[in-house]
Amino acid sequence: MKKQYIIAIDGPAASGKSTTAKLLAKKLKYVYIDSGAMYRACGLYALNHNINLKDVKSLQQMLDKIDIKIKYTEQDNKLYLNGEDVTFRIREADITKLSSEIAVIGIVREKMVELQREIGKDGGVIMDGRDIGTIVFPYADFKFFMIADVKTRAKRRWEEANEKGENLNLEEIEKEIIWRDKNDTTRKISPLVKAQDAIEVDTSNMTIKEQANYLFNYICEEKNA
Ligand code: DC
Repeated sequence: MKKQYIIAIDGPAASGKSTTAKLLAKKLKYVYIDSGAMYRACGLYALNHNINLKDVKSLQQMLDKIDIKIKYTEQDNKLYLNGEDVTFRIREADITKLSSEIAVIGIVREKMVELQREIGKDGGVIMDGRDIGTIVFPYADFKFFMIADVKTRAKRRWEEANEKGENLNLEEIEKEIIWRDKNDTTRKISPLVKAQDAIEVDTSNMTIKEQANYLFNYICEEKNA
């Protein structure tokens, strides 16, 4: 594939975006960027520095100081927050909630969008998130919007946690997903919404391999059309 495309994948939590994006990136030899990890890093920074999310001045100071770097390898991405590897810390439950809260703040989004555009500008990138096809790269070459019913999404998260040896409650996970869906779709700035020109993919009954193949075949067919 000659042209280095920008591929946007949006959708709600646990809809299959990141697993699909990772596999697709491997197939295409593209870089995979998880934009949600950046909001998670902001949440962690705010927590570590006792920043009140309602205090605009402190938030602005935080954004001036925050340094987020994503190191991409074919195996996995590592996220460095002001030089410290926080790849695993940002996946913990307190940061999951905080990331959704901090992601509603305009100045935070402006800074993250700027960073995301800088990382993706040369193409050869698959970026997943909530507003990639609508705000970050409205001119992305390909846009996908992944959905799945809430029970399936909760079960996926529960199975992931089990694999990691974490003993989480399925009902609690479902509640948390419903809360985040609401927060992400109803916020004033850049709410989670399907771009008009995005291809919707319902992953409720698809395996990860099927999801990645679906996107891959779609891209190959369009490219040859
Ligand atoms: O994709 P994720 O679950 O790791 O994202 C964490 C939070 O960050 C999510 O609740 C919403 C927010 N987010 C966002 O607002 N915009 C993005 N492009 C990516 C994530």
